[in-house]
Amino acid sequence: MNFEKTILCIGAGYVGGPTMAMIAYKCPQYKVTVVDINPERIARWNSDELPIYEPGLDEIVKTARGRNLFFSTEIEKGIKESEIIFVSVNTPTKTYGTGAGMAADLQYWEKTARQIRESAESHKIVIEKSTLPVKTALAMERILTSMNNGIRFDVLSNPEFSAEGTAIKDLEDPDRVLIGSRETSSGLKARDELVEIYANWVSRERIITSNIWSSELSKLVSNAFLAQRISSVNSISALCEKTEANIAEVARAVGMDCRIGDKFLNASIGFGGSCFKKDILNLVYICRSLGLDEVADYWEGVIKINDYQKERFILNMLSAMFNTLAGKKICLFGFAFKANTGDTRESPAISIAGKLAEEKAIIAITDPQALRNAMIDLDGIDGGIEYVEDPYEASNGCDAIAVMTEWDVYTDLDYEQIYKSMTKPAFIFDGRNILDHEKLFEIGFNVFPIGKPPLTHF
Ligand code: UDX
Ligand code: UDX
Repeated sequence: MNFEKTILCIGAGYVGGPTMAMIAYKCPQYKVTVVDINPERIARWNSDELPIYEPGLDEIVKTARGRNLFFSTEIEKGIKESEIIFVSVNTPTKTYGTGAGMAADLQYWEKTARQIRESAESHKIVIEKSTLPVKTALAMERILTSMNNGIRFDVLSNPEFSAEGTAIKDLEDPDRVLIGSRETSSGLKARDELVEIYANWVSRERIITSNIWSSELSKLVSNAFLAQRISSVNSISALCEKTEANIAEVARAVGMDCRIGDKFLNASIGFGGSCFKKDILNLVYICRSLGLDEVADYWEGVIKINDYQKERFILNMLSAMFNTLAGKKICLFGFAFKANTGDTRESPAISIAGKLAEEKAIIAITDPQALRNAMIDLDGIDGGIEYVEDPYEASNGCDAIAVMTEWDVYTDLDYEQIYKSMTKPAFIFDGRNILDHEKLFEIGFNVFPIGKPPLTHF
């Protein structure tokens, strides 16, 4: 079959995989190939068990795979054959050298740019899909054009705003699609080509364009603003715990102001995920490098509050449970960084489990999708950790349950049965405020929500 366009994506991860699956699903007239250096990952994309859990993803992959969606390890071939190349390789926080712990590690990014340069035989539109420091496109252009072989490259920025757990819905019906380009005639032409792809299913008013630097920066700033709302509400949850105010009531009252809005105001054990911390650190690093220390300090506060919230959670557990957790069995309900994903990157549950192990607690972990990743994350932690899919079995004989992830399944459990099977006094620490606290208290639990007065029988 002759396809209208040939599209390649380098990097078959949480971003590249679902995004390309959606383009292929919506646009059967385009050939979409996703390549990756990791052959196991590609094999799983080609199997019945996809490498990531995302509601709705299986269906769209099944529809498009083999028709116009292909997963492969042949990166060079893919580059040669495609006119449009999305780059979605990972850009983790640097762990070495200058900027360690803050700056984005661009080694995979740069390697990919060189790979494109070396294999390209014709004009390519290269699209930054990964989140990158502002001005990365300039470096990319310099690498791509450094061979001086007459091949033209147009670099665009098209950050991905979908969130895990709702990625398919977000991709199908995005708030906006942002495309940044150079404001040259060839940059604008490339931009229009990408607009045309999204216009297959996204209304034109929602496809916005900007200069390339604004686009790169908008992604960092979006994530920083979202994370800042969570840190804001979490900081107030600490104040609520000292004053008998109730964070849910405060958030409701504040969020009903339409200038503020009610989203992202759920107090929690802290935000996790691969993006928020990494992107804010990156923003802080850029500001510091440009001499904007006050701006850097402001955003760094968002991360400090997030760390503080996790520490507070453990301190609250300790003080509620008579200042010792040694030998006590604690069951973590959930390990994923949020519900409806198996992803555990930067999950608050990782640091909570680490701290519980330091306190010599015995840990049992249950999660509907994330146990495989939890085992990898906690590999090497002293003391046996039990990984149990069934929450009833996991909490059997425990002194306390700590809710880490807001999975629906935890709201519907038979807590009478769970209470009977636990050691007394039995505690629940609801790190997501999803349970019916009054009811749990009536059953006999000592209940410790976030930002609300505890309900105890002492
Ligand atoms: C993405 C974005 O790329 C990142 O910038 C954003 O902030 C978070 O989301 P994600 O898709 O979650 O990353 O990363 P990951 O699931 O690790 O996938 C990246 C893929 O790129 C991996 O499968 C990796 O094997 C692949 N890769 C990496 C390459 O194909 N080539 C490389 O050189 C490096
Ligand atoms: C985020 C952005 O939302 C998305 O636009 C971007 O493309 C990638 O980064 P993601 O990290 O997948 O998406 O999930 P998100 O829903 O933003 O949740 C991030 C963390 O914040 C989770 O740990 C979540 O539980 C937590 N959270 C979210 C809260 O603690 N309270 C809230 O009110 C909302």
